[in-house]
Amino acid sequence: MKVRYLVLTMLMIVIALSMLGCGAAAAPEPTPTATPHPGEALTASRCGTCHPLGLVENSKFSAQGWQIVVERMVMAGAQLNKEQQAQVIDYLAVKYPKD
Ligand code: HEC
Repeated sequence: MKVRYLVLTMLMIVIALSMLGCGAAAAPEPTPTATPHPGEALTASRCGTCHPLGLVENSKFSAQGWQIVVERMVMAGAQLNKEQQAQVIDYLAVKYPKD
């Protein structure tokens, strides 16, 4: 009788521990570094083809200003769809704001 209780108690402990383990495994991993802005790679790949990327990096515009610039570049032939344009504008407005 005593042994059976002991086995039962140990079984409960094992189940409880395994549930704890599951909980820990399911917890989202903390991200050590911030994910890069989606506009960063687009800017690097699409905005340095006609002129050096430095031209972009040395410019400072407000968000509205960047929007006008990017729209002009798209008219000139920059390969960006509407969604990509929005990402590039957002990235540039944060990285190279008018001060
Ligand atoms: C199809 C070629 C082409 C691509 C691609 C291109 N540009 Fe340009 N860019 C130009 C030309 C041509 C000029 C100079 C004449 C002008 O300003 O319109 C220029 C000038 C600029 C200037 C100088 C400031 C100004 O107002 O003229 C900035 C800033 C700029 N581009 C940003 C960008 C950004 C950001 C991208 C990526 C979204 C980009 N460019 C992609 C052709 C291009």
